Order: sequence, then C-alpha cells, then structure tokens
Amino acid sequence: MSILIAEDESISRILLKKMLEKFGHTVIIATDGLMAWELFQKHQPAVVITDWMMPGMDGISLCQKIRKEAVSRYVYIIIVTAKNNKTDAIKGLEAGADDYIVKPFSPDEIHARIRSSERIIQLENNYKKASLQLVQSEKMASVGQLAAGVAHEINNPTGFVSSNLKTLSDYQADIIQLIHMYKQLLEKIELSYKNPENKDAVLEEVEKIKAFEKNIDIAFIQDDFSSLIKDCRDGMDRIKKIVIDLKDFAHPGSDTMKMADINAGIESTLNVINNEIKYNAIVKKDFSELPLINCYPQQLNQVFMNIIVNAAHAITEKGEITVATKLIDSNVVVTIQDNGCGIKKENIGKIFDPFFTTKEVGKGTGLGLNVAYNIIKKHNGTIEVQSEEGMGTMFTITIPA
Ligand SMILES: Nc1ncnc2c1ncn2[C@@H]1O[C@H](COP(=O)(O)OP(=O)(O)OP(=O)(O)O)[C@@H](O)[C@H]1O
Ligand SMILES: [Mg+2]
Repeated sequence: MSILIAEDESISRILLKKMLEKFGHTVIIATDGLMAWELFQKHQPAVVITDWMMPGMDGISLCQKIRKEAVSRYVYIIIVTAKNNKTDAIKGLEAGADDYIVKPFSPDEIHARIRSSERIIQLENNYKKASLQLVQSEKMASVGQLAAGVAHEINNPTGFVSSNLKTLSDYQADIIQLIHMYKQLLEKIELSYKNPENKDAVLEEVEKIKAFEKNIDIAFIQDDFSSLIKDCRDGMDRIKKIVIDLKDFAHPGSDTMKMADINAGIESTLNVINNEIKYNAIVKKDFSELPLINCYPQQLNQVFMNIIVNAAHAITEKGEITVATKLIDSNVVVTIQDNGCGIKKENIGKIFDPFFTTKEVGKGTGLGLNVAYNIIKKHNGTIEVQSEEGMGTMFTITIPA
C-alpha cells in the first residue's frame, strides 16, 4: 500500500517511515500540511498518517480537505496526537479521520492499525463498486422503459403530422386546379370584352368553377386548411418539448449542483413519462411558488419519475395522481399522492430496501425507491410514505431550500 506521512517532527517521521517500510509499504514523506496536500494529489496514496500540529496547514485541515475533495475513492486517514490527548483524537475523528495513534507509538500498534485500514479500504471499495453497479442496472432498466415511452410519445404526433401533410397536399392539388380555372375565366372575360359573342363562354366557365368548388367542397377546405396547419404546429411543438425534456435526462452522470426550479423539474418529468401514466391516471398539479434551490436537478427528476411511475402502476383502472409543491419553513415539500392499491402494512418498512418489489418477475427491479431515497439523502432531505391498503399512498419529499 502507498502511505503518505505528514509530520513536521523529524524523529517521529523517520521512525514511522522505517516501521511502515519494514511492513512492505511504499512511503511518501511530507514535512508540513501544504506539502502533504500536494503530494497527496500527485501520488494518490491509500492511507494518510498525519500529525495534528503542523506549520501551514494542520492535520485537521488536511483531513477535511481530503474528505471534501477526494471523493471518488476512499482514503483512510490516521491522525497522530500527543500523548493522552483524547480531545484532539475526538476532534480528528470528527474532521473525518478514521483512526488515531497516540505518540509514542509501537511497531505492533502501527502494524495492527494499518492492517485494519486495509480491511476498511477493501470494504469501502467493494461497497463503492456494488452501489455503482446498482445504479447502473437501475439506469439500464429505466432507460428501456423510458425509451419505449418516448418512442410512443413521438410516434403519435409524427403520425398525425404526416397524415395532415398528405391531406394538405391533396387540398393543394385541388386549389391549384381551381386557380387554373380562375385563370381561364379571366381570359374568357377579357375575350368577351373584345367580342360580346363570347359572353356565353364566360358563363360556361363560371358554371364549371361552381361545380368544381362544390365537388371539392371549397368552404370546408378553407376551414380545414388552417386547422390542419395548426395541428401540425402543435404536433411539432410537442415533439420539440419531448426532445428538450429528454435532454435533461440524457446525461445523469454529468449532473452538477445548481440552482433549479423544482416545479419546472416536475413539469418536464411529467412530460417525459406522460405515456407511461396517461392511460390509467389523471395527473393533478397543485404547485406553489418556490425559491430556486441548490440541487442536482436531473437526479431530483429521477426521484419524481420513480415515484410518479410507481403511483401509476398502483392504479389498476382509472385513478388520480396529485402532485403538490409547497414551501414550508424554508423547506421545499413535494407530495405525490395516488388513490391506487396502497401498500400492505407489513411491506411499508421494506419499500426503500434495494430489490424489494411486489411486481412480477421482469416488471420491477425494486430499485426505484432505493435510488430515490439515496438521492434525497444526498440533498439532506427526507422522504416519507403514508399508505393504506385499498385507499392509496402519499409520498412526502422534503428538501431544504
Ligand atoms: N404508490 C405506490 N402504491 C403502492 N405500492 C407502491 C407504491 N410505490 C411503491 N410501492 C411498492 O413498493 C415497491 C418498491 O418500489 P420500487 O419503485 O422501489 O420498485 P418497483 O417499482 O417494484 O421496481 P422498479 O425498480 O422498476 O421501480 C413496489 O414494488 C410496490 O410494491
Ligand atoms: Mg418503481
């Protein structure tokens, strides 16, 4: 293992280095906190052993900095404190250290502590890998569902836009023919001025036009023309909107913290999942004005999606889903209520567990609510559920604004 030692006092430093090297570790040495941070970034050691008191940046600040900035992997941090100073040790643990050693230390103690660090690092790494796989498989499951829904949503307007275009092109042929007849009429009128005997030809042409207009029902075409164009516009707007909303979902990995409007997030989520819910649920919205909140907007959209889709699945025939937002004591509170089948008492405690599902094999992975729970936790919020079998369910999400 590679171990970084941050220690300004040379005797302790050399002693520690020797011990660790004897146990087969690679040791990097820093003589103060700032140097330690630089070497940490450069060498990415698995373990950091840092003294408490150091010039420049002390051990506590170093510890906090590592915890704040090196989030992609687990770094095991041991704080070295002066003899019998328990308060220092506690402060160190609170700043994010995993363990502490009291000076002077014995080789056996160092050996034991480093061995336990190896165990913890291994566990943390396994956990990271497992949760990554979990999120990945959830993503794959919902991507499939989403893709099917979106394809359907886009297919609908595409269908009527292309059928409207076909009708419009039939109308266009009739109108061109009509214009052609009017042109002929003009010519005949001109001729009749030069030669009054041609008057009958004018009347004949007028009759022809009248018959043709009746045949194609020009009055109807006139009305229908603008309404077909309006429908095409609406259809294209609908497709445009789906594509824009979908973009919000497209790169969840690159989601960054930013100020976002929760109402807008719910609105765009509803647009994306409309196909999944519209057959068995009417969605009612009761939004209050909310401040922008600092959050991961795409991840919150994922939460709303998972809960609203669950609500729709809980409704067998035709039901209602009410999504409400409120600002209560500087918390944004979102409630999602359905009048579906409800949750059995004995299952309420399990619904946030990964892989808990009551759906048929292949229908649910049982990850939707677990993913939602973790996302809300990351926002320092809470997610609660109230449910009564046969009556319905209400999820309440509270996020600090
Ligand atoms: N609104 C609801 N009404 C009734 N039961 C619900 C509701 N929401 C969740 N549940 C129950 O909680 C279980 C877990 O939900 P969760 O979203 O985690 O998984 P899932 O919907 O089964 O599968 P998926 O991973 O595809 O979302 C569901 O199987 C269902 O039994
Ligand atoms: Mg679900």
